[in-house]
Amino acid sequence: MKIDFRSDTVTKPSKEMKKAMYEAELGDDVYGDDPTVNSLQELAAEKTGKESALLVSSGTMSNLVAILALAQRGDEAIVGDKSHIFLNEASGASVLGGVSLRPVKNQDDGSIEFDDIENSINPIDPHKTKSSILCLENTHNLTGGQPLSPTQISELSNFGRKFNLNIHLDGARIFNSAVALKVDLIDLTKSVDTIGFCLSKGLSCPIGSVICGPNDFIEEAKRWRKMLGGGMRQAGVFAAAGIVGLNSMIDRMEEDHQNAKKLAFGLSEFSEIIIDPNSIKTNIVRFDLKKMDSDFFVSKLRDNGVLVNGSMKTKNLRMVTHYGIISEDIDYTIEQVSKIIN
Ligand SMILES: Cc1ncc(COP(=O)(O)O)c(C=O)c1O
Repeated sequence: MKIDFRSDTVTKPSKEMKKAMYEAELGDDVYGDDPTVNSLQELAAEKTGKESALLVSSGTMSNLVAILALAQRGDEAIVGDKSHIFLNEASGASVLGGVSLRPVKNQDDGSIEFDDIENSINPIDPHKTKSSILCLENTHNLTGGQPLSPTQISELSNFGRKFNLNIHLDGARIFNSAVALKVDLIDLTKSVDTIGFCLSKGLSCPIGSVICGPNDFIEEAKRWRKMLGGGMRQAGVFAAAGIVGLNSMIDRMEEDHQNAKKLAFGLSEFSEIIIDPNSIKTNIVRFDLKKMDSDFFVSKLRDNGVLVNGSMKTKNLRMVTHYGIISEDIDYTIEQVSKIIN
């Protein structure tokens, strides 16, 4: 038995998804001929309230393609200092597109202060790079899956627009936000210019992300996707799973959030573990160990069938709940933690 809390990317497709994948009508998507990809893109555009959408291979590619399509070589993108784009995407926008990343402080709720944005915008000056994009992240992974509210997103977007910034949202887990906040998805997407979301996380699909935005942006994104080697052929094979994900896997995320809360409250019973269980809003549970070596903790749990994401450098650990993890798995996990700590 394995209970895999390392990420929601470990989810496997449901039976319904596999059936849809088997039966999917296919074509060559580089020619725009795959009817299943086209249906997925139409559905994604409709759900996010954007003109068009484009299927890409991953969340990383969605952010990369979006930044490259929105900015020119030599421009700067303002990003949170704890954002996935800044920390965990190998600086692709800079390496491949000549777009520099300007980090500004992420607050504990994943937001960014207006002053910090304003202070990072360069004046028009030949010494300076041109500030052209503001990237937001919702939910915010590194701050523990914090959901940004529609008000936060629209205020940040409006603020950025005052400085002619394009607003890109890394919405890898945007559905977790909508479910946790009990708001319509469109309320979280309408104020940004472009959004990317992942099919392969809480929606449990095997592959893929979708970027959504205006028609001209998507046309440009298509060119970048092809240039990066991401033009795929009979991609309907996995787009079919995406359609099932969007139609049937969003509401069930509430169960993942309940399991995450149960896990967090269970962990908070141990004095060795530092966690504020009330801060858990979605499916990511982050906590620290007071004294115990995190590698020891992680390996002991692994020996007992529980997989946890640990950082070698800090004592910070992450557990993510998702499709496939049930309430009884949380009971078992807390029991194992108790054996290691007590
Ligand atoms: C917030 C966020 N953005 C983007 C990504 C990248 O997604 P992928 O692993 O599909 O490239 C992740 C992955 O965990 C993420 O957490």
